[in-house]
Amino acid sequence: MSNTIVIFGASGDLTSRKLIPALYQLHAKGRLPKNTRIVGVSRSPFEHDEWRTSLRETTSKFAGKSFSSEKWDTFAPNVYYQSGDIKDAASFKTLAEFLNEIEEGKSTGRVYYLSTMPQLYATAVDQLGAAGLACEDNGTRRVIIEKPFGTDLATAQALNASIHNVFGEEQIYRIDHYLGKETVQNIFALRFANSIFEPLWNRNYVDHIQITVAEEVVIGRRAGYYDTSGILRDMFQNHILQLMMITAMEPPARYDGTMVRDEKVKVLHAMRKMTGGDFASQTVRGQYKGYLDEEGVPPGSQTATYAALKLYCDNWRWRGVPFYLRSGKGMSCRTTQIVIQFKNVPHMMFGDKSRVPMGNRLVMQVQPAEGIQLHFETKVPDAGMKTRTSHLDFNFQDSIGGDSLPDAYQRLLLDAVQGDASLFARGDEVELAWGIIDPIIEAWNSPAAPPLLQYETGLWGPPEASQWMFDQNREWFDVCPVIR
Ligand code: BG6
Repeated sequence: MSNTIVIFGASGDLTSRKLIPALYQLHAKGRLPKNTRIVGVSRSPFEHDEWRTSLRETTSKFAGKSFSSEKWDTFAPNVYYQSGDIKDAASFKTLAEFLNEIEEGKSTGRVYYLSTMPQLYATAVDQLGAAGLACEDNGTRRVIIEKPFGTDLATAQALNASIHNVFGEEQIYRIDHYLGKETVQNIFALRFANSIFEPLWNRNYVDHIQITVAEEVVIGRRAGYYDTSGILRDMFQNHILQLMMITAMEPPARYDGTMVRDEKVKVLHAMRKMTGGDFASQTVRGQYKGYLDEEGVPPGSQTATYAALKLYCDNWRWRGVPFYLRSGKGMSCRTTQIVIQFKNVPHMMFGDKSRVPMGNRLVMQVQPAEGIQLHFETKVPDAGMKTRTSHLDFNFQDSIGGDSLPDAYQRLLLDAVQGDASLFARGDEVELAWGIIDPIIEAWNSPAAPPLLQYETGLWGPPEASQWMFDQNREWFDVCPVIR
């Protein structure tokens, strides 16, 4: 069967920076199913060739040295442009006619990618339904929805409800680009394709888990979005909770969309609800110095650009093991790491007894360089029985030679075209995630809020967050990429 991918919001940044380069790369690698057409839709008027020319330029820029003019020339003829306004029913009628024309009425699978302003998601879906574009009489119909999926639980529920009026859950693909990252998928492989980690992956051996998504960048010119979003909506409700679910979930019986997501959702169900004083004692919020001077930030804004949360997952595997989740803009470096901190030995019998070893640590580095590092104690040579921490490294880059790892959108777009929803968020998952984040946001807007701590950019967030960990006899793993 042939396929058509229709991108709404075609003149936007995501389309030129991520979606088209990903589709081009899939084509160049021979992975894009034969007869896949791409139709861009947005209000700006473009001729097909004009759009192709502009995409060629942006794609060659983003694809870098892997760009081949020859391959582009075989890709471009399948790229089309149709101008249209999401608010205008007539545009959808014209689009339906155009799609039928290029598909020659043949049975074709269609994926509608909503890369528009989030306020337009519900309208776009309504219009697709009204124009008969969701009807599966002549091929599958799927819809991909970019983040943010709602701004709180109520809006996410409303959006789910309105999409479900038109598409069944099995037709809906909610994007979280973190799930498309190779290293995030490698957590599945590490946990469920090996037998040596699983026996240790629980409360008996793990002291705590740290998930850090640190970004060196500040908000730049995104104040309009960021100031109403803040770090919890922008990073925690989606990306960081996704990393946590995959780290904490039980092994599914099969790697498929239903079973994987069933297990992830169980983690969210097991999260302990914070109440009363927990919001002040288990959360830290910060704002980088200079945030208030960023263009477009309202005076006196209390928006957090840093957060650290201590969460618990109350089930047999994890009861009592804190999950420390943190993220910030304006941090020391760009690094995303999951650290499994194992318990210390019960008794140290060697060498310098005053030196307490750190306990073993498994660092899964999601980005920028991808890999895994295992920390363990070894003997210092020629020094009696003195020990020190050593490490074993696995670097993804070494296993793929000079090539770079594929961008997350390649995997996600291909999965959506092929109907595999394992790496997409399900409706209940998104709502449960909001159910965890909403009460924190609410508490942060109330007298129960912890102070909004100021921090210098280029460091590891507010110094108080380090003290907060020390007070719990723990320490952040403040290390810029361990794998390079
Ligand atoms: C986006 C957020 O979802 O993820 C951004 O809106 C953030 O604020 C980005 O910078 C981080 O993604 P990545 O892939 O660069 O880690």
